[in-house]
Amino acid sequence: MEKRQELYAGKAKSVYTTDDQDRLVLQFRDDTSAFDGKKKEALARKGMVNNVFNAFIMARLQEAGVPTHFEKRLNATESLVKKLDMIPVECVVRNIAAGGLVKRLGVEEGIELAPPTFELFLKDDEKGDPMINESLAETFGWAKPEQLAEMKALTYQVNDVLKALFAQGGLLLVDYKLEFGVFKGKIVLGDEFSPDGCRLWDAETREKLDKDRFRQGLGGVIEAYEEVGRRIGIEFPA
Ligand code: ADP
Ligand code: CDP
Repeated sequence: MEKRQELYAGKAKSVYTTDDQDRLVLQFRDDTSAFDGKKKEALARKGMVNNVFNAFIMARLQEAGVPTHFEKRLNATESLVKKLDMIPVECVVRNIAAGGLVKRLGVEEGIELAPPTFELFLKDDEKGDPMINESLAETFGWAKPEQLAEMKALTYQVNDVLKALFAQGGLLLVDYKLEFGVFKGKIVLGDEFSPDGCRLWDAETREKLDKDRFRQGLGGVIEAYEEVGRRIGIEFPA
């Protein structure tokens, strides 16, 4: 496999074509952003930590029967993935109230959400990733109803697998965002799963161990990501 030209530079990752038209290289950078790119900083080691973290989680999901784009980790900061036609819809499941839900509905942070909630957002930075629903997604052609049904089922399946995995490390999976795409006609999990796109709290103290440390200026961001990884059995290179 040969890496070719840069296809896209996102806020946290860069995407490269390869000599295989069905494969891409995802490069995880140290760049970190929040609030639709308004807060930005490079955090040393983040690219490596998220690449290794994501590789571990994608492998666990694949084993559990969730189809993912992940093929293999190439080096510290890069992974080989299937090239998907990305669906511009973000799927969010919440087990505990935090973040946008607390702001929007005025519910208390930390209350258990039973059953877990499922929300859709349009992936569009300029519009501030607005909340949407199945009807809007169908009418505007962002995703077909059968695709949305599959994405919802897979997002909940991921919850079952990862809630249990993080619980073994004494962690609460509060909420998370997934992105899907189409590969050879099939819905496949894309992008990444790392503490950048989910909330994880210590089960005892409820200390935040995810990107909220960056959003809220709490410090120790990458240390927290590594702590979470170690607790679920990930070994990070020195
Ligand atoms: P953003 O675009 O939100 O700034 P990133 O910096 O993470 O996000 O950039 C990675 C980009 O690559 C995202 O737009 C994501 O949708 C896209 N992407 C992730 N996985 C794949 C894939 N397997 N095939 C094609 N595109 C992908
Ligand atoms: O995080 P924020 O308050 O902006 O929004 P949210 O709706 O509470 O986010 C729910 C979950 O999805 C959190 O774990 C976010 O980190 C994640 N998310 C994301 O990774 N990317 C987005 N564009 C939106 C949410």
